[in-house]
Amino acid sequence: MGNKIIVYTTRHGASESVALRISRETNYTIVSEKEFNGSSDDAEVLFVAPIYMGAVFGLDSLVKKLNKSNKVKLTIVTIGLYDPNRESNVENIRNHVESSLADSTIVLLNLFSIRGKLDMKKLSFTQKMLIKALYNKAKKADVKNRTENEQDIIKAVEENDALYFPQLDEIIQSI
Ligand SMILES: Cc1cc2nc3c(=O)[nH]c(=O)nc-3n(C[C@H](O)[C@H](O)[C@H](O)COP(=O)(O)O)c2cc1C
Repeated sequence: MGNKIIVYTTRHGASESVALRISRETNYTIVSEKEFNGSSDDAEVLFVAPIYMGAVFGLDSLVKKLNKSNKVKLTIVTIGLYDPNRESNVENIRNHVESSLADSTIVLLNLFSIRGKLDMKKLSFTQKMLIKALYNKAKKADVKNRTENEQDIIKAVEENDALYFPQLDEIIQSI
């Protein structure tokens, strides 16, 4: 069996804390995507990354590094604020991942998504403006006309949810 490595990206720490927890419970080695230099052909890589504006943050850079090896096995865990149990959200993430991997020799073993955390205090000015615009739009909509993703935005801003750990337990058991 090849060596197993967790590679992660993060902007504000949520994905890093998920990656650290998986590493503690599995004993896989862990490295940030910035420090990662590629792997051996038989490696199994678990990539933990947040979703920003519909894209898996850092995936394209990781794919370039993994393409230097042959048939690396990849599992991806995404962190985002939209409900990962909603089929349309999972499909958007899958489409993005598949197009990023389209011309590579990487073998995608699995794709998991878990709910993230929105800590307004940590966001940059631009990110705050973006989230506030989405939040205000959602709040203005008539309650019964709100989309489910708009409800997620409101919940994330107002409730500052903790990480969705029950789902993480299932993921750890299956890897
Ligand atoms: C500007 C901005 C855009 C975001 N876009 C998405 C998105 O498209 N889909 C999603 O599920 N979550 C989105 N999120 C939520 C983040 O993925 C979530 O806050 C995550 O926990 C951040 O992880 P990090 O702390 O590791 O950077 C967005 C957050 C911000 C601030």
